Amino acid sequence: MITVKNLHKTYPGALEPSLSGLSFSFPKGRIAGLLGPNGAGKTTTISILCGLVRADSGDAQIFDLHQDAHHREAIKKMIGIVPQQIALFPQLSALENLTYFGNLYGLKGKPLRTKIEDYLQRFGLEKNGKKEVYKFSGGMKRRTNIIAALLHDPQLLILDEPTAGVDVQSRNMILQFLREYNQQQGVSILYTSHLLEEAQSLCEEVAIIDQGRLVMQGQPLQLIQQHPECRNLEEVFLHHTGLAVRD
Ligand SMILES: Nc1ncnc2c1ncn2[C@@H]1O[C@H](COP(=O)(O)OP(=O)(O)OP(=O)(O)O)[C@@H](O)[C@H]1O
Ligand SMILES: [Mg+2]
Repeated sequence: MITVKNLHKTYPGALEPSLSGLSFSFPKGRIAGLLGPNGAGKTTTISILCGLVRADSGDAQIFDLHQDAHHREAIKKMIGIVPQQIALFPQLSALENLTYFGNLYGLKGKPLRTKIEDYLQRFGLEKNGKKEVYKFSGGMKRRTNIIAALLHDPQLLILDEPTAGVDVQSRNMILQFLREYNQQQGVSILYTSHLLEEAQSLCEEVAIIDQGRLVMQGQPLQLIQQHPECRNLEEVFLHHTGLAVRD
């Protein structure tokens, strides 16, 4: 699904590097988790994979295509991105927002409208399509933000903390959707989080990163079994990343 090799990134003017030789990979068709504390480099890694941020050195590949000027457009069509910050026009309705994002991918007319209505229904938003997004709850905004990334049928869906700031009901709906989307449509999913319990139940494979480096990678149950003193993924995570608060 994705491979990153020896990625280095220091933002202009920053004193510390954000990524210091990060390498990991996930096979196609999986639900994979990129986990780490605040500031670990999750969003930076995803941004490099998507072509939004340029690495200082190293290599990022999606489905065997290198992220470079030559493949940028092809990769853009293959992936759907749900950013960490809600990226919707607050004054526009959900329908208007989603029509706009569909148009960006060349979708239009009745097929687009039908697709949007199907997804609004699937995400429990069918009664709110015409409402302006600034009137939505946090969970409704998140669900709309996810739909925006699905309209062009990506082969890889990348979600940056998709359950941040949502209630239990919205969270369950989002996680259940991701499981079904992966199983029924075979779409690969890369998800970031620092919610370890959630990641343990959702992900088949995880990579834990800290301070821009890989700490460990594997299947959640295997990682727990490798640490007899740990009862769950959170304890494994804390065992390796420590209790100190992060900036
Ligand atoms: N545009 C930027 N300019 C300067 N430094 C940045 C920029 N974006 C991120 N950083 C720094 O890079 C490091 C990694 O940030 P990043 O956002 O990738 O982490 P993260 O794992 O996504 O964290 P979070 O869980 O808080 O979302 C942090 O120290 C952050 O302050
Ligand atoms: Mg982040």
